[in-house]
Amino acid sequence: MSYLEVNNLYKNYAKTEILKGISFNLDEGEVLTIIGSSGSGKTTALRCLNFLEIADKGIIKINDDIIFDGNNKNIKERDLREKRLRLGMVFQSFNLFPQYTSFDNIKLPLILKESEKKKSGLNYKSEEEINSIVFDLLDKVGLKDKALSYPHMLSGGQKQRVAIARAIALDPDILCFDEPTSALDPLLTVEVLNVINEIKKTLNKTMIIVTHEMEFAKRISDKVIFMDNGEIVESGTAEDIFENPKSLLLKQFLASYNNVL
Ligand SMILES: Nc1ncnc2c1ncn2[C@@H]1O[C@H](COP(=O)(O)OP(=O)(O)OP(=O)(O)O)[C@@H](O)[C@H]1O
Ligand SMILES: [Mg+2]
Repeated sequence: MSYLEVNNLYKNYAKTEILKGISFNLDEGEVLTIIGSSGSGKTTALRCLNFLEIADKGIIKINDDIIFDGNNKNIKERDLREKRLRLGMVFQSFNLFPQYTSFDNIKLPLILKESEKKKSGLNYKSEEEINSIVFDLLDKVGLKDKALSYPHMLSGGQKQRVAIARAIALDPDILCFDEPTSALDPLLTVEVLNVINEIKKTLNKTMIIVTHEMEFAKRISDKVIFMDNGEIVESGTAEDIFENPKSLLLKQFLASYNNVL
């Protein structure tokens, strides 16, 4: 049994099939990157995993717990919220609340999560505990001195690091990133990639990263999936995919990067 099991995920938009049976497994603490050309379905796959879209068919299990079953989609809103919290998402466009400081951007979702726990009669964290978690996370992403800054006062790289801290604060089982650096210039990209690397090393978080940063993917991935036209064309270790690509499509895709760089 793997930690994450994704089985035959399908998603249509209108009548167009976007995901055509995506299946993969991931062990706890592993980092998976998803690569592929524009429009291949990478974002759609992540959005289905995070319940931002509801897949049409397929099964998703975390730790043998079925969190999505295409044959049984009548999930209660409350259960859905709980399932959503098992996966965290960091977006390309940061999605911070502009009216809140860095500190509050991280704190508020955590307050909501803990108050849900309180309502359900579960153990919950006090506000002091929450504040200390937020400070530690700001420290972890190198932004302790920006706790009281608002998003408009931060660089893109800093905003993305707040967004990453916010996602980690909720302690998801799996942390997903959709092109976390594509809105950033090369210097800020390095800042953010270093933070993701650090999370892998210190928190041992299971992560799924959609990226066009091939060097980064090579370095950080335990597994790599190459998608094209809604399907997984090839998957394997970073070495399999980057050093020994088998399919013509993947060879062409990697060559197009090498030509640009
Ligand atoms: N909400 C939507 N409604 C209709 N079609 C959509 C929707 N979202 C995505 N699509 C289509 O689904 C296909 C896959 O899109 P997706 O965003 O998953 O690709 P991607 O691999 O993430 O591409 P990119 O690298 O450009 O981000 C595209 O053809 C896109 O036009
Ligand atoms: Mg995308």
